[in-house]
Amino acid sequence: MKKALILAATAALMLPVTANAERSGEEVYKSKCFVCHDFGIAGAPKKGDTAAWAPRVAKGADALLATATSGIAAMPPKGTCMDCTATELTAAIEHMIGGAK
Ligand code: HEC
Repeated sequence: MKKALILAATAALMLPVTANAERSGEEVYKSKCFVCHDFGIAGAPKKGDTAAWAPRVAKGADALLATATSGIAAMPPKGTCMDCTATELTAAIEHMIGGAK
């Protein structure tokens, strides 16, 4: 009986990991990207800073996703979100470009 309960609890705890539901742009941003993009660390364009983002946005969404995935200058590949899907990264980028803080 006790063992079954423990197994059930363990299964419930493991669910979010195994299910791997897609995170929103805001969730990804707040867990990873904010570290640099909130304060402009190492020249990172700040979240919601339209002027800083304009020349980058001009390259197109595909180009931004490509550089965000491979990394650019001081930014590590995938902005340290190694388990992020392309969809999640794109959502995070959109959140960063559009969102006022
Ligand atoms: C360790 C710091 C750091 C983290 C964490 C980080 N970035 Fe960056 N990011 C940078 C820096 C620095 C630049 C500016 C690089 C340059 O052009 O010199 C940048 C630039 C970018 C650009 C513009 C790329 C281009 O082609 O101009 C995008 C898009 C971007 N980051 C997305 C993200 C996303 C999405 C995350 C989170 C998943 C993230 N970053 C996390 C430091 C970071």
